Amino acid sequence: MAVDYTIRGGVAVLTLDNPPVNGLGHATRLGIVEGIERANDDADVRAIVLIGAGKAFSGGADITEFNTPKATQEPTLMTVIKALEASAKPVVAAIHAVAMGGGLELALGAHYRIAAPGAQIALPEVKLGLLPGAGGTQRLPRVVGLETALNMIVSGAPVPSEKLAQTALFDELAEGDLLDRALSFANRAADRGGPYPKVRDRKIEHPNAEGFIQFARNGVAAVAKHFPAPHKCIDAVEKGVKEGFERGLAFERECFLALVQTPESRALRHAFFGERAAAKISDVPSNTPVRKIERIGVIGAGTMGGGIAMNFLNAGLPVVLLETKQDALDRGLATIRRNYEAQVKKGKLTQEKADERMALIAPTLSYSDLAQADLIIEAVFEELSVKEQVFRQLDEVAKPGAILASNTSTLNLDKIASFTKRPDDVIGMHFFSPANVMKLLEVVRGEKTGKDVLATVMQLAKKIRKTAVVSGVCDGFIGNRMIEQYIRQALFMLEEGALPAQIDRAIESFGFAMGPFRMSDLAGNDIGWAIRKRRYREQPELHYSRVADRLCEMGRFGQKTGAGWYDYQPGKRDASPSKAVDDMIVAYSGECGIERRMIGDEEIVERLVLSLVNEGAKILEEGIAGKASDIDMVYLAGYGFPLWRGGPMLYADTIGLYNVERAMRKYARQPNGQAWRPAARVTELAAADGRFNA
Ligand code: NAI
Repeated sequence: MAVDYTIRGGVAVLTLDNPPVNGLGHATRLGIVEGIERANDDADVRAIVLIGAGKAFSGGADITEFNTPKATQEPTLMTVIKALEASAKPVVAAIHAVAMGGGLELALGAHYRIAAPGAQIALPEVKLGLLPGAGGTQRLPRVVGLETALNMIVSGAPVPSEKLAQTALFDELAEGDLLDRALSFANRAADRGGPYPKVRDRKIEHPNAEGFIQFARNGVAAVAKHFPAPHKCIDAVEKGVKEGFERGLAFERECFLALVQTPESRALRHAFFGERAAAKISDVPSNTPVRKIERIGVIGAGTMGGGIAMNFLNAGLPVVLLETKQDALDRGLATIRRNYEAQVKKGKLTQEKADERMALIAPTLSYSDLAQADLIIEAVFEELSVKEQVFRQLDEVAKPGAILASNTSTLNLDKIASFTKRPDDVIGMHFFSPANVMKLLEVVRGEKTGKDVLATVMQLAKKIRKTAVVSGVCDGFIGNRMIEQYIRQALFMLEEGALPAQIDRAIESFGFAMGPFRMSDLAGNDIGWAIRKRRYREQPELHYSRVADRLCEMGRFGQKTGAGWYDYQPGKRDASPSKAVDDMIVAYSGECGIERRMIGDEEIVERLVLSLVNEGAKILEEGIAGKASDIDMVYLAGYGFPLWRGGPMLYADTIGLYNVERAMRKYARQPNGQAWRPAARVTELAAADGRFNA
């Protein structure tokens, strides 16, 4: 039963009961309307209380009904709210914990609202590229005032109920038992008699509404350049201010229907659901038992090890940090301390918290100190022989059932697992640099990795607030394997006629946080060089431009050497185009006998993005990624792909696979075209008018 109906001393209590957050699915909506009718028909009932069971009043739309016919089936939320407003007997919404989105709109349809302190009140639709579609933009300003309402609607951020206690949103802030308080409130309301107040009849008061709306518009223009929804939120509120409730409501509806269709909203919803979907692994049921993780071990206190340790310290888990030499250990600890000090200075962390976190680290030079760890993550040098030495020692000291993880970015995890007698306990946890900041975590599932090990690490990832995506074992896993093809295209385009600054500019205008050359300068050009040298040996048939090798031969390793694809002033990160590099590129084209041509920005973007798509398709075919949205999550969380485009695979869906394949065939006919054989999955989908994200 989605809505429970009981009578308590002449008051009908409608309890929403649709776990986990009383989403307003069809059965719930129907239950509310029926309950209101039943209460109105019952001569013994004098008032109605609407309350939520469990963890929330209501979290809003039922996300399991998204994109299904049930989402729009009558009674819609609009109809439910009308039924509340029209009730001849007073309706009191009793709010605890969460009233968000449709849940808040529902409460705004009641005659009265009382709230428990600490309830989170929000209209978060804007975060999905939408606006509140059931009167939120019209009713909220009428109770909390124009400024507070606009801030809430445009930001989507939750506000605790006690902060809104002085507004007309709440008739009472209820300490103690919420239902008791609601029942007594409802009785008093019935005693006073009707007509009962409706939010829609209130006025929006503001001394200078027009001025404030303009002010809000200016603020949004700066932060929401690529997203239409915040602008529409303001438009809808303004309509209500200027033309009244009914017109405002109709306009809100119109805007909602238009926004649902925008690629930006589709991208945001894709990211929202994709993140949740990434946590679900098809052959690992959600009730798979997990191991208890209370103590962490980290081996290697270098660039990655320190950042990895911080993730766990931040979550309150003690970390044993192991190094081979005291000075390396001291350096690693000093870096962690410096990071926390910087956060304290910026006011993001209290000194007390910083001290608490530092106190959770136990530095050591001895493997025996890892004996109690439940999870040990290795971040030592990227050499198989070093990994072998580490995992053989771990096998000796780690307790039975401990999870042994590697942060390797290029080595074969199955090989690493084979150094132990417990390969089912071995897993990859591929963090991104800086590991304490970057959201992405690729969880690498080896051939023998236990399902409970995988489930445990996925759960832990949530605890340390990472976007975790499962990847199979292959060179580069999901993210780096795809980026290699993207960089390969960027280099081809250099020899064909483009220059680094042009390529970076084009892809940055598409929305990438950083173009490939600025990115390589930041990461260090020697890293790619080492990978290419391995490729030349292992896959001599694979065609590569050698122009980046020339750059490395000039000693231009990037920011760390003050020179890379760009020139850098000492101590600064601003990239300025380098004449020496541009001359080298032009000379290199000449040596290869290539006649340089003008390459348009459109071609640059298409070749870079579609190279990701093509490799992504192969990754899906091979089962390295479980679903297309997983790939998109990797690119959104770890590679600066523009959020409003939803990731490379959704982008391909948006332009259509037919067009994607045609473009690939076109590039296949050009010089360097050998990189452009469309993946089988691309061809199949193009023929069937299909999508990666069906
Ligand atoms: P790093 O050179 O900064 O740190 C490695 C640390 O491991 C050094 O402090 C070294 O003293 C220590 N170490 C070496 N052998 C050891 C042993 N036998 N026992 C204990 N400690 C030992 O290297 P970085 O960049 O932190 O990389 C570590 C791992 O993380 C590598 O596998 C790398 O591929 C991977 N990785 C690196 C990323 C990056 O952006 N730097 C990104 C993702 C993964």
